Amino acid sequence: MNEQCTINYGDNKQVSLPMMVGSEGERAIDISTLRKNTGLITLDEAYVNTGSCKSAITYLDGEKGILRYRGYPIEELATKSRFVEVAYLLMYGELPTPKELDAFSGLLNNSSLIHEDMRHFFLAFPNHAHPMGILTTMVASLSSFYPVPEEMSDEEERQVIANLVSQVRTIAAFSYKKFIGEPMIYPSYKLRFVENFLNMMFSSPVQNYQQDPDIVKAIDTFLILHADHEQNCSTSAVRITGSSLANVYAVISAGISALWGQRHGGANQGVISILDEIVTSGDDGRRFIEDAKNKKVRLMGFGHRVYKTFDPRAKIMKELCHKLLNKPGMADPMIDIAMRLEETALSDDYFLSRNLYPNVDFYSGLILKAAGIPFNMFTVLFAIGRTPGWLAHWREMRHDKDNRISRPRQIYVGPPMRNYIPMDKRAGGGRTSLSGRFIADGDTSNPFVKSKRFTETVRNERFIPAPPPDNKPSGPDSSIARG
Ligand code: SDX
Repeated sequence: MNEQCTINYGDNKQVSLPMMVGSEGERAIDISTLRKNTGLITLDEAYVNTGSCKSAITYLDGEKGILRYRGYPIEELATKSRFVEVAYLLMYGELPTPKELDAFSGLLNNSSLIHEDMRHFFLAFPNHAHPMGILTTMVASLSSFYPVPEEMSDEEERQVIANLVSQVRTIAAFSYKKFIGEPMIYPSYKLRFVENFLNMMFSSPVQNYQQDPDIVKAIDTFLILHADHEQNCSTSAVRITGSSLANVYAVISAGISALWGQRHGGANQGVISILDEIVTSGDDGRRFIEDAKNKKVRLMGFGHRVYKTFDPRAKIMKELCHKLLNKPGMADPMIDIAMRLEETALSDDYFLSRNLYPNVDFYSGLILKAAGIPFNMFTVLFAIGRTPGWLAHWREMRHDKDNRISRPRQIYVGPPMRNYIPMDKRAGGGRTSLSGRFIADGDTSNPFVKSKRFTETVRNERFIPAPPPDNKPSGPDSSIARG
């Protein structure tokens, strides 16, 4: 198919650009020659309409609510597969044979310890350190203990991948033990991936952890559902960081950092905070929905850049939630609130007109809560699940002979060319605002200047200590040394 896209621009100029068609019929304008042929670039803030690469790993259809890993529907993988097998599928492209799965599981087991010296790092973190902050730091530190050669053989790549899939899980469990002041529990060769994680999290020298098969299955399914999602924010961070040929541990650390944000992986914690707030306030959720419609708050776990209908993962999570919470002693009033919120939102035009539906995070927090996972570890579980997806994209990019460093363009909107002004010629001084506007000192035309916040901000920005109350300069020489 040689379909072309013709753009008319400038004074009667035209350019024809080739179209690219994906294996599921998605079509894209290939603009890779645009600037060379026209001097033009495209602008697409937040990349809403821009494809950053070709990939064979995951396929999404946001309008139809379709998600497939290497062609396999998420609904089949969630019910028939297990996380370690899905991790192999994402990274290596095919479902493993029994022999391949045994070898991969064995490699994960043999790679599950971290260097003993790394345990000292945990001692340095304050007790209130967020586990995501610990995880991103520790994963980047793995590069110091497991050096990665510039040119990796297949075997070395397999080992690095196994290290990360397995040690992200170990570091996560260790960070929890640090947080609660209990001794760290080592991984055991007797346990499978998820049982090992739960054992490292919840057993102790004085108490054995009783594995509940339903909880193991729920966490395993949670990890499958989070394993990949094409070019989301954190995977794009991995691809951009990896494109500079940075150390793979630093690349995955970049993905963890991006995932931490509340618009992304941090949303599962946000949902539980909302449900907790509603339960505590005695509200039935309607007031929260009104606040969301008035833009005072965001209904976390709702909305998605790609899905404009139900996130297929949310449907699976919801079923899993019900199964787990129907177990004796697992009931949680939050599920009723969550369902009422969903029902209210999905009957309200504000949400329907914006295609805001539950996403993967809306019910996932309730599953983790039921499994006894502590609240501030929710996003860490997301990271454990997403690590194979990040590695699959890193590997796909690494093996792409045409891959180059990612370096987007921009449209400059700052001040035009101007010459340097010697200090004694600067009239009164002022500052350039974040949006590039020059604001002279005392310029009250800018509403921001009037506010107390501005003065404090300026002081903070210039690190000028607040003058003493009597406004007399403090100390022998209060002028700021100009560096
Ligand atoms: C994940 O990309 C991925 O694939 C991510 C992910 C993955 O697996 O990697 O699926 C995982 O990150 C899921 C999303 C988790 N985040 C949340 O649940 C946070 C709450 N949702 C949002 O903030 C928002 O919906 C995003 C971030 C998910 C999507 O943001 P967009 O596409 O930039 O949409 P937007 O912020 O421009 O919103 C469009 C409109 C706005 O209203 P108007 O300006 O049109 O009046 O919808 C409104 C927004 O105010 N809106 C919401 C809302 N989300 C969007 N209003 C209330 N509650 C919300 N949750």
